[in-house]
Amino acid sequence: MGKGNKKNILVTGGAGFIGSHVVRHFVQNYQDYHVYNIDALTYAGNLENLKDIEDQTNYTFIKGDITEDDFLTKLFSENEFDGVIHLAAESHVDRSISDPLSFVKTNVLGTVNLLNQSVKIANKNPDFRFYHVSTDEVYGALGNSGLFTESTPYSPNSPYSASKASSDHFVRAYGETYGLPFVISNCSNNYGPNHFPEKLIPLFINNIIQNKALPVYGDGNYTRDWLYVKDHAKAIDLVFHRGTNGETYNIGGFNEWKNIDLVMLLCKLMDKKLGRTEGVSEELITFVKDRPGHDLRYAIDASKINTQLGWEPSVTFEQGLELTIDWYFDNQEWLNHVTSGDYKEYYKKQYL
Ligand code: NAD
Ligand code: DAU
Repeated sequence: MGKGNKKNILVTGGAGFIGSHVVRHFVQNYQDYHVYNIDALTYAGNLENLKDIEDQTNYTFIKGDITEDDFLTKLFSENEFDGVIHLAAESHVDRSISDPLSFVKTNVLGTVNLLNQSVKIANKNPDFRFYHVSTDEVYGALGNSGLFTESTPYSPNSPYSASKASSDHFVRAYGETYGLPFVISNCSNNYGPNHFPEKLIPLFINNIIQNKALPVYGDGNYTRDWLYVKDHAKAIDLVFHRGTNGETYNIGGFNEWKNIDLVMLLCKLMDKKLGRTEGVSEELITFVKDRPGHDLRYAIDASKINTQLGWEPSVTFEQGLELTIDWYFDNQEWLNHVTSGDYKEYYKKQYL
């Protein structure tokens, strides 16, 4: 048991997109927890994402890199964690194609470092649990029909998904070999506030605002299953607290969209928001060279988490997209910071 008889929960990658929603969710909903957020603050990590909760007494941020064993050894020797929710990762498929090694370092090596520390704690604390937040991309690509279930064989196609598949395997192997209590979830594409504008939805919102081209890869007939990020955070809460040790849970939005249809919808909503004539933003669509190894379709069968843990998405895609667009309009300063890199200088002064 940690600080003042509170449970100590370690969240990794909590300054990133999904991690910041997870940190906020746990800090606000569990006063009996102390939430430690460790994050290396790479280009994708941004403490502005957590400004509203940074002064909460049940929250501590520590800058650190999960690939650095010395840092983790010190962290785990100074704190008795009751659970780890592991999200820190390199997360962008395009970057994994140009720089696969950094994905191996953080996603595979970093995860194994955390597992080594967690095994030591689990040996002393029978209630300890390691939670790996993973992706549906480990299953590879679907054709025009079918859904990923928890028993779909792994078949990753990008360096990113290969690194996440590898880390999932290490988590399972530590369960089998060292008896580490763990859960894994594999989720579909998230969207919502604080999404870094290199991913499809925030990139295109930013480009539409700035009247820049919208680069649709290939013919745009690729399908993704979109989930509002706050619904993912709620699912993570349920899996962490009520999931069965050693099991995997698929999480998805029951919400498949072909990229080109999604981009057309986004253009329509943005025209309305910007007071432009309908059709103006669509003219920005530009078909560009395809992503190598581009997976045709992802779609999740989320019936296990639905029937066993009672989870379902709380917002429709139209509601979630409107909330997202509104957030980017209300947070232009955030967009300017993450696209200019200024914020890094600002936070470096405080944490380096
Ligand atoms: P993100 O890129 O927005 O955030 C990743 C965070 O990890 C950043 O804050 C970054 O600073 C931190 N980080 C990176 N390397 C680190 C290191 N070596 N040590 C410590 N911190 C480090 O990613 P995201 O989209 O929020 O994804 C979070 C997790 O969820 C990832 O594990 C990802 O694979 C998984 N996931 C993402 C999605 C999605 O749609 N975004 C869907 C399913 C699963
Ligand atoms: O499925 C879960 C995964 O979803 C997560 O594990 C990843 O971390 C996350 O980045 C996301 O991966 P995708 O590759 O699906 O997301 P991205 O936003 O990069 O691309 C979504 C789709 O849009 C994909 O088919 C590629 C296409 N695309 C993307 C970009 C950035 C374009 O057509 N043009 C673009 O400029």
